[in-house]
Order: sequence, then C-alpha cells, then structure tokens
Amino acid sequence: MRKISNYSTPLFSLLIMASLIIGWQERDEYWLNAEKGWGYALGIIGGSLMLLLLLYPLRKHWKFTRQWFAIHHWFRIHMILGIIGPVLILFHSNFQFGSLNSNIALICMLLVSSSGLVGRYAYQKIHRGLYGKQIEFSELRQSFAESKQHFLQSTLLTPELLSQLTRIESHINQRKPSLFLAYKSFKETSSIQKMLRQKTRLEAKKLLKDKVQLKSFTGEAKHLQEGIRYLNKMANYAVFARVFSMWHLFHLPIFFMMLVSAVVHIVVVHMY
Ligand code: HEM
Repeated sequence: MRKISNYSTPLFSLLIMASLIIGWQERDEYWLNAEKGWGYALGIIGGSLMLLLLLYPLRKHWKFTRQWFAIHHWFRIHMILGIIGPVLILFHSNFQFGSLNSNIALICMLLVSSSGLVGRYAYQKIHRGLYGKQIEFSELRQSFAESKQHFLQSTLLTPELLSQLTRIESHINQRKPSLFLAYKSFKETSSIQKMLRQKTRLEAKKLLKDKVQLKSFTGEAKHLQEGIRYLNKMANYAVFARVFSMWHLFHLPIFFMMLVSAVVHIVVVHMY
C-alpha cells in the first residue's frame, strides 16, 4: 500500500491549481479589496509567509542557526511557503495589475516563485532525492574508474569507442565544463548505451549454442554497459550542476528586486 505522504505533493498541487483557477475566474466579481478587510489581510499574511521562508537560507548560511531542526524540514517549509505566500498575494491583488511599483513587486514575486520550481528540479538531480545529501562528483568518477578496469578487456570495446569514451571523460572531468559540452556528453553517452544494448543482443543471439562463450560475453557486456552508465551519470550531474549554478545567478537578483519593490509598495500605499 502506498504511504499517504506519497500523495501529499500531487494533492497540494491540485489544491493550489484549483484555488488559482477559482481566483482567476472570479476576479471580475471583486470579492476581495486589497485596501481593506480580507483582501488587505491576505496581503499581510502572504508577505509574512514570504518573510518566514527566508528562514531556510538563514538556517543554511548562518552558523548560529545550526541547532534549529534538521535542514530538510526548513527546505520543505521554504518550498511550501514559496507557493502559498505568492498565491495569497495573487488573491490580495485580485489577479489584477495596479500601480507601477506593485506590478514590479508582483512580477518579481511570480518570477522568483516559478523559478523556485525550476531550481527544485535541478536541485533534485544533484542531490540524493529532494531531502538527501548532495551527490559527490568524485564518487561517480571513482565508480567509473573502477568499472573501467573491468570493461577495458571487453570485445565490444572497439578502439573508436574507447577513444570516444576517453574524450567524453576528459570533457566532463574539466573543473567547470560548459553546459553545452556537458549536455553533448550526456546525449552521446545515452546513444552509446542504446547502441551497445542493440549490439549485445545481436552478438548474444549468435552465441546461443555455445553456453560458455555466451556467459563470458554477457559478463563483459555487462561491465561495459555499467561503465558507460557511470559516465552518463557523470555527464548528467555536470549538466544539472551548471543549470543549478546559473539558476542561482537568476534567482537571487530577482529576489532582491522583489524585496525592494515590495517595501516601496508597502510604504507608498500607506502614504497616500
Ligand atoms: C516568492 C517565493 C520565494 C522566495 C522569495 C525564495 C527565495 C529564496 C532564496 C533567498 C533562496 C536562497 C538562495 C541562496 O542560498 O543562494 C532560495 C533558494 C531556493 N529556493 Fe526559493 N524562494 C521562493 C520560492 C521557492 C519555491 C516555490 C521553490 C520550489 C518549489 C523554491 C526552491 C528553492 C531552491 C531549490 C533553492 C536552493 C536551495 C539550496 O541551494 O539549498 N523557492 N529561495
């Protein structure tokens, strides 16, 4: 039986989508007014939730916060509040644009929140799941080096394939391979995997009558496929490590723009 927690993300997404659709469809009814009552309160609550979500980067970067719960709880809370806060602000704005500074704050908020979803995807690819430790590139490299000792004798490893693998390995072992090079290496290793599977199947068919040779051949093929799987994982890691560091470059400035424009928005609406 599947655990209830397995359904929590789809259920949460469904609730968020449903409330966004209802809010959007009802916007012309003006149930909420940003200046008073529930509309005003939702602005305060949504803004406060977005301040609270900053406890995660605080917990991550500031030494004195190390004793405050395990980091993965903060990360989960960060992501939940990063969705609920903006949704409440959308209800506060009644899904409509207003003055210039509030529009800037709103757009930055939507950009930060949706970029968070992209960051979440890339983050997951370079960690052991969403709440696990970061994968060490050196571990993958070590596994590849170990499997190389076994597959170098494989009859399936032609000189061309060996030089192709050596080239890919040197590309992804660079300190910071470009996104293009990392992605190209990922695609190349994926198609080598596919090609090898087909070749192994064909060769194995020819050896069906000779059980001893067949066993030794499938053993060799398994080692080679395993080695290329590690190389593929290294390339995949290199792709998402680049995407994640580029994502940080986008996420942070937009976040600061959102912060400044939100403060200006709050000051301005209370002045006039
Ligand atoms: C308006 C809403 C949000 C704000 C203001 C916000 C703000 C931030 C800030 C300031 C950081 C720290 C960046 C750093 O350490 O360099 C961060 C990191 C992050 N946020 Fe958000 N975020 C929001 C929504 C989201 C959402 C909705 C998600 C995903 C569902 C998300 C996922 C992430 C991830 C994956 C990281 C990087 C974590 C890490 O490097 O440890 N964020 N966010």
